[in-house]
Amino acid sequence: MSFVEYSEEIRDGDMAIVYQGHESMMPVKVRHGAQTQTRYGAIRHSADLIGKRYGAKVTCSKGGWVYVLHPTPELWTVTLPHRTQILYTTDIATITLMLELKPGSVVCESGTGSGSLSHAILRTIAPTGHLHTVEFHQQRAQKAEEEFAEHRVDHLVTVTNADVCEDGFGVTGVADAVFLDIPAPWEAVRHAKAALKAHGGRMCSFSPCMEQVQRTRQALLAANFEELSTLEVVLRVHEVRSVSMPLPDFGPDAEAPPDRGAAPLRTTTPPREMPAHTGYLTFAAKPRDRRL
Ligand SMILES: C[S@@+](CC[C@H](N)C(=O)[O-])C[C@H]1O[C@@H](n2cnc3c(N)ncnc32)[C@H](O)[C@@H]1O
Repeated sequence: MSFVEYSEEIRDGDMAIVYQGHESMMPVKVRHGAQTQTRYGAIRHSADLIGKRYGAKVTCSKGGWVYVLHPTPELWTVTLPHRTQILYTTDIATITLMLELKPGSVVCESGTGSGSLSHAILRTIAPTGHLHTVEFHQQRAQKAEEEFAEHRVDHLVTVTNADVCEDGFGVTGVADAVFLDIPAPWEAVRHAKAALKAHGGRMCSFSPCMEQVQRTRQALLAANFEELSTLEVVLRVHEVRSVSMPLPDFGPDAEAPPDRGAAPLRTTTPPREMPAHTGYLTFAAKPRDRRL
């Protein structure tokens, strides 16, 4: 098992996702002799997991069952232990697209936080790219490093425990893309510019407040960044339902429909209340003219 390569078989030492339902999943470290409690009873790792195929349906001790899934960055984002606020797949997908990330890309990121975005970046840039991620909280940096090793992506990432606004990313002129998720991104813009390759490269900053966006945009313009754009990505989930609609009465002269009953229709409804705002994504390109 690795977050950047699919394996068929569950092995000792893997991290697997136990799926109890769409709203109830949990990550499990697979260990010989260990047990995990689920809402349907216990799973014994040696008997029920090791040697089975990912995707298998596993019967628990109380007779209910769960699926055991191969981890992906998307499943990790919805099951990871939160040490900070995290980025979710809707924003992550936009960041990946707009920063033009691909296999082989070199990316700088700060802060690492809970590593939600980092795992998605690593899957995209594998097998030859590299992520330099900077986190100033010592325990968060250490925990992220441990998780990258457990998820077998540590060869693709360098974690640095530092203040990115003071010390930068620790690399110069190598990055294809830079991503910032810190409270004062404008203080790191000069370091982002220094980390990016001499010719071009793109950066993105995530901020919950418009005031942060304004200050970041001012710093980007002052540093001669180009093609500035700020987006807010809002996920709107609609529930699909079947409804019956009475046929309209067009009066006595109208041609009678073959069946005067109700017409079954498939429609969607948005939930009454919907959490929407996460933050604004500000994108910019490094000037291609080396003199700027
Ligand atoms: C919101 S979290 C990042 C979440 C991350 N994007 C994710 O998806 O899991 C922000 C992180 O930035 C770190 N941070 C804040 N200011 C920083 C700085 N100047 N240098 C390095 N890290 C910083 C914080 O300690 C925190 O862990």
